[in-house]
Amino acid sequence: MSTQSTDAAPLSFEVHRRDDVRSAAARAEILADPGFGKAFTDHMVIATWNRGEGWHDAAVRAYGPLSLDPAAAVLHYAQEIFEGMKAYRHADGTVWTFRPEVNAARFARSARRLALPELSQAAFIASIRALVQTDVDWVPTGSDGGEKSLYLRPFMFASEVFLGVRPAAEVTYCVIASPVGPYFASGVRPVSIWVSTHYTRAAPGGTGAAKCGGNYAASLVAQMEGSANGCDQVVFLDAAEHRWVEELGGMNLFFVLRDGSIVTPELTGTILEGVTRASVIELAKDLGHEVLERQVSLKEWQDGAGTGELAEVFACGTAAVVTPIGRLVWEGGEVHVGDGRGGPVALALRAALVDVQYGRAEDARGWLTRLA
Ligand SMILES: Cc1ncc(COP(=O)(O)O)c(C=O)c1O
Repeated sequence: MSTQSTDAAPLSFEVHRRDDVRSAAARAEILADPGFGKAFTDHMVIATWNRGEGWHDAAVRAYGPLSLDPAAAVLHYAQEIFEGMKAYRHADGTVWTFRPEVNAARFARSARRLALPELSQAAFIASIRALVQTDVDWVPTGSDGGEKSLYLRPFMFASEVFLGVRPAAEVTYCVIASPVGPYFASGVRPVSIWVSTHYTRAAPGGTGAAKCGGNYAASLVAQMEGSANGCDQVVFLDAAEHRWVEELGGMNLFFVLRDGSIVTPELTGTILEGVTRASVIELAKDLGHEVLERQVSLKEWQDGAGTGELAEVFACGTAAVVTPIGRLVWEGGEVHVGDGRGGPVALALRAALVDVQYGRAEDARGWLTRLA
């Protein structure tokens, strides 16, 4: 069967505004301290695909529970993908998002890997624009330096009612939005990382480069192990040799060497190709760093911390932006990099990125798209 999109005509999202939106006072209370991923706006996007009609019934509707048949395929076989991006309010009140075409392209690659229908880049961006314009009052102001934003979560899942194991013939696409503050409640401070030696996240030929729910389900037990060992996040090693550092459960990794050069694990098909990773590579070059994409062994991290060859380690992703890593812990040992604060390179890259996102620095590469 073909799972290609039949987007012959551009998909448009009809807006059905609810008349019971929350009051300005209720919204202000949530925006004052939104946390991360706990509160949601008044509306959502929903669209349906089936083999006969392609994408149709695309609309912005009241946010609320979905009605799912217990035999919906996603509940059994996890045929599901998602994206994560943010809308930023600039000081002049306009609202922008960061490199949405890159998220759209990754969403299409994830769809192909999970045998789901593709959504065109135009439809993907139109869907987030329709939702953000409808719920524009939910985009927090970022100008107070608190780095608040509206997190956007597009996702697609197999909604066909059928227990056979095959690509679903009916699929649902949604976008929901959540006002957020910093991902780590404690702000920008170095985090501790647990090395998962019992569990791997992705194997060659698997789904590591796709953003599908199953990858995250498979990482949770390792995350529990990390938490039990006093760590904030888990680093996964390659599945074949258990030797090469791949990525964290939800962020890509960077290493700053003593000579100022920067190394990040190369894309092998088992790592998620982060939008932040790609952007950090370019910004680091702007700041005069040589950037190398190559394999990095766990031993290089362990030894480099001891010899001082490794000056900084940091992780990056949309949710937590750039997060310094201070401590690496494994069964039987640990090493520290840095002095317990964020390193200068990580903090400079973080500032360069958020300054573009919040409109405080020139958007020299045209990375921003206006939403409202
Ligand atoms: C496994 C994984 N790696 C890396 C990233 C970083 O990707 P991005 O910078 O596009 O948010 C994420 C977050 O989406 C992720 O879930």
